[in-house]
Amino acid sequence: MQRNEIVEATDKIKENITETPSIGLILGSGLGVLADKIENAVTIPYKTIPHFPESTVSGHKGQLVVGKLEGKQVIAMQGRFHFYEGYTMKQVTFPVRVMKALGIDSLIVTNAAGGINENFQPGDLMLITDHINNLGDNPLLGPNDDELGVRFPDMSHAYDRDYIEHAEKCASELNLSIQKGVYVANTGPVYETPAEVKMLRTFGGDAVGMSTVPEVIVANHAGLRVLGVSCISNMAAGILDQPLTHHEVIETTEKVKENFLKFIGKIIATLPND
Ligand code: HPA
Repeated sequence: MQRNEIVEATDKIKENITETPSIGLILGSGLGVLADKIENAVTIPYKTIPHFPESTVSGHKGQLVVGKLEGKQVIAMQGRFHFYEGYTMKQVTFPVRVMKALGIDSLIVTNAAGGINENFQPGDLMLITDHINNLGDNPLLGPNDDELGVRFPDMSHAYDRDYIEHAEKCASELNLSIQKGVYVANTGPVYETPAEVKMLRTFGGDAVGMSTVPEVIVANHAGLRVLGVSCISNMAAGILDQPLTHHEVIETTEKVKENFLKFIGKIIATLPND
């Protein structure tokens, strides 16, 4: 029963922390540096938390970091779980359930993604306005626990409109030009073929990645307000005539680190919570 597992994981984390976090952060490939900015940080390796899977991807550390960031109590996942690692959708999204049980009411999700929109460039930051679940699976399949959320969750505003507006304001105050668009989740672990990228563009996708959508579905089910930011680490397959590598993804996120940190920092400092 997932609810007992959530309680056991939550109890274990509570033994290590003194304050209730209000904002959850999921840090994608190469973007874990944000957690290094957390003050009075308590670090909890995933392997010490009951029922937590362990992350297996390089560029992902595999720990929770809890503490203060820009004056707010936050809990950050330094490294996330992906469907392509072989975890079930329930495992991938388990940490979101736990963060909700710990007391967060907002979730900021980040990822590295390939640019489908030809107006994008590697290094761009994109506010996620909506998503397409192209994973062929859903974390809410199976019996619904009404204590966790409703059977048929509304996804009309999966990414909170006020948060998008807030983030746009932060970007303009920082003189940072950002993109907005629709994120498509594919299972991976292969990158797309050029034909698939064309198809996803026709579908209305602006960026493609292998994460985020499961967590955002569960966050909506749990009643959390969500903000999503993609770092466009490369142009999706077939747009530029060059092969895609994980190395390139990490290299680009490394380059935009400063802007990413400034942007997310400002968003958190002034995030509206009512
Ligand atoms: N495709 C899928 N996932 C990704 C990509 C991509 O081009 N870049 C970073 N994550």
